[in-house]
Amino acid sequence: MDLDQLNETAIAMTAPGKGILAADESTSTIKKRFDTIGLTSTADSRRDWREMLFRTQPAMSEYVSGVILFDETIRQTAADGTPLTKLITDAGCIPGIKVDAGAKPLAGSPGETVTEGLDGLRSRLEEYYKLGARFAKWRAVIDVGRGGDDSLPSPYCINVNMHALARYAALCQEANIVPIVEPEVLMDGDHTIERCYEVTEFALKRLYAELFEQGVVLEGTVLKPNMVIAGAKCSDQATREEVAAMTVQCLLNTVPAAVPGIAFLSGGQSDEDATAHLSLMNEGYNLPWPLTFSYGRALQAAPLKAWNGSDVAAGQRAFNHRARMNSLAALGQWRS
Ligand code: 13P
Repeated sequence: MDLDQLNETAIAMTAPGKGILAADESTSTIKKRFDTIGLTSTADSRRDWREMLFRTQPAMSEYVSGVILFDETIRQTAADGTPLTKLITDAGCIPGIKVDAGAKPLAGSPGETVTEGLDGLRSRLEEYYKLGARFAKWRAVIDVGRGGDDSLPSPYCINVNMHALARYAALCQEANIVPIVEPEVLMDGDHTIERCYEVTEFALKRLYAELFEQGVVLEGTVLKPNMVIAGAKCSDQATREEVAAMTVQCLLNTVPAAVPGIAFLSGGQSDEDATAHLSLMNEGYNLPWPLTFSYGRALQAAPLKAWNGSDVAAGQRAFNHRARMNSLAALGQWRS
């Protein structure tokens, strides 16, 4: 394990004014995204979409630090035969790879899931390193009970997911790949922001306990958390300032200062909310870690619509815009 290299990579992933493009949708998820523009999902259409993004300037050179890829994408070449990973490194960005195998039903706890993918992970990481990946991602999914049901998520669900995240992280570091640890408390449902705070705090406390117990070196990790926010169906939505304040408070209570950087997921927030929340957190607080974005939907929804299957110039214009707005937010300088 080369700790200096891991730390250097983690710092570069969360460099000032830069964030991560999460383009690691699985084949079934990207199909759902393409359905919204009436485009058939094929290996070529997925390649065309991602090639368009990775060739976007100045977004890729100035606002993006790294790109999370899906297994298919890290092996694909552009229409002219250039490996997609080369487009990414030529722009000065770091290729990353999603390595989890998705959330599967958790035995003994109906309705809850545990993320799988540990079997064979050591050899897959070795291969991904050879293919150019210098960081990886694993997402644990935590669903909050509906209608005030406080029994969900169960501590069992959180514990097994955080245990798996730490096992993944230790294997990544052994392979000189920076693990992005992503415990996502979902926005789905009708829970209050206070309940989101409680669940997120518990999950993060358990995550850092597991990382410690399994010998993961925090200096070589990046955290990808949800923001503390009310469920999408909650009738009482907090203000942007409240979301920023509660998210910062929750992170200060749980995330050690040794963590080199935090890159949020967007989780279904509107594009503008995701940007505004990030900017407010960077503007008003003195924090021990840089806060930036690792957005999927909040970076790609607008460009997907503009591209609409073929309009490269419109797609790139929209991607440049969203990437620039989120870069400003990472610096605490975004204004509506
Ligand atoms: P969203 O920003 O769309 O939540 O996606 C980020 C991600 O990588 C989820 O795992």
